[in-house]
Order: sequence, then structure tokens, then C-alpha cells
Amino acid sequence: MAHLEDLKSKGVRNVSVHAETLRALASPATLAPSRPAVVDSGSPVLPKTTPRPTQVMAMPKRLITSMVTPSKLAAHARIVSAYSDKAAAFNELQTRVLVCLKCASLASSRTNVVFGVGNIDSPLMFVGEAPGADEDAHGEPFVGAAGQLLTKIITAMGVSRAEVYIANILKCRPDTPGESSGNRKPTLAEMATCIPYLHEQIDLIKPKVLVALGATAVEGLLGKTVGITKLRGNWQTYRGIPLMPTYHPAYLLRNQAMSEKRRVWEDMLQVMEKLEMNITLKQRGFFQQATA
Ligand code: URA
Repeated sequence: MAHLEDLKSKGVRNVSVHAETLRALASPATLAPSRPAVVDSGSPVLPKTTPRPTQVMAMPKRLITSMVTPSKLAAHARIVSAYSDKAAAFNELQTRVLVCLKCASLASSRTNVVFGVGNIDSPLMFVGEAPGADEDAHGEPFVGAAGQLLTKIITAMGVSRAEVYIANILKCRPDTPGESSGNRKPTLAEMATCIPYLHEQIDLIKPKVLVALGATAVEGLLGKTVGITKLRGNWQTYRGIPLMPTYHPAYLLRNQAMSEKRRVWEDMLQVMEKLEMNITLKQRGFFQQATA
């Protein structure tokens, strides 16, 4: 038990357990329903929040079985239960958000609520402004042109889109009455109404690093209206979590200068360093101006 508690206190999220142990966990009615506790979904690139328990895996079957005590099983069940609780809390939050009617005009004009997407155990979370037309149509953040660029940036960092979590300040597309297309910035009232949902998402995910994409994301999370040009590249803190402000990918679509891409990339390199990710020389050199 002490061993598992110790692992838990060090942030270990998954534990390799012998098949017999799993069977034992599944049978008593008092234990939590099991989750795929031994699946390690950690990224090959993001530092593992779950070090592989190689020591246990290397041990002979007889020895492992003899080490399993009821107290260890109970501790393991508590860990498993904590993770099911997190997923359940996230589902409950999503259920509430999907039927939100707090902004009457947005609720009536939207096609979908855009809750968020990705790995709820990720150490890395991106926050944008609000869904656009594509996101409203698909119910997923950052799937339009700006989103595709964001996905490229994430991929260049060596991780997949599915390994991070992506959400917005606003969960509904800001309406543009009388116009057939176009986007508008969320109003302060809309942001104040919707931001508690994002706070709840962040509280549950507990990312190690937040990336705020653009001025509205910074304003929503930090209440700062300082220009993004001044803030980007400089670590901020959101409720104790390091937050990196950077340009919104839509800005990079409007301004194709290599220097601007490099700025965003330098911000991402800082994020990768903070997460102790492996950074190759090739990655360090992305978007550098060609010299002579
Ligand atoms: N821009 C955003 O800020 N969020 C999205 O989801 C899409 C575009």
C-alpha cells in the first residue's frame, strides 16, 4: 500500500498489474469498476507522467503474486477509482455545457456547442478564443484553416493533436446577426458567462502548461488586456500553472512572414523545454530565416 501511495504521490497514473490482480480487483463488489489501468497512453515525446514500472514487470510471476496484499489491492483500487472519477466529472461537465442556454442569442444561433477535444490527462492544453463557422458545424475546436495550422504546430512539436487538450474561452460561436459569414470577438459579458466552464476543464485536467492562443485567450484566462505582441513569449501564471501566451494561428494565416512563424515556434520551444520534452536540432532550427 505504501508503495502504491508513494507512486501516486509522485504522479504515477498507471500501474502494471498482474492478470491475477486484475481479476481480484474486478470481483469484490466494494472495489471500483476497473478502467484499463495498465494502458500507458503516454506520448513517445511528451515526458511520461507515468514512468513504466519496469521493475515489477521484470519480476517472475510467483514473486509478483506473493507481493500483492489486500492493502495494495485497495490502494490500487483507489487510484483506479480516482481516474474513473475524473472521467466521470469531465463527462458530467460536458453534459452541462452541451445544453447551456446562458447566452440566449448564441444558444439559438449555434449548430453545436464546442466543448473541447483531446486527452484529459495531457500535461499540455491549448486555449483559443471561440468557435468559428467550421467549429460550430463540426462541434470540435480548431478544425478550420486556423485549426489546421494549429494541428501542424502541435505535430511539429512531436506530439499528435489527440495527445493534447484543446478548448476555447467561449463554447459557442459568437453570432453575427444579419451577416451570412464572418466572425466577431466575444463580448466581455459572453466571456464572463462562459469562462467558468473553462476553469472547470482546467481544474480537472490539471495541465502542466497552458498555451493561450491570442489576445482574447490571454484576456479570458488572465484578465490582462496588454497587447499580445508584448506578452507573447513571456511566461505568465494561471492559478499556479505556467501559461505561455502566443499569437493566434489565424494571425499567422494573415501574416505569412517567416519572422512571425519563428516567434510562435520559439514560444513552442519554451513550452517543450518547460515540459522537458526531447527537442531535436532540426526542431530547434524550424522557421529560421535563411541567411545569405
Ligand atoms: N479560432 C479559435 O480561437 N478557436 C477555434 O476553435 C477556432 C478558431
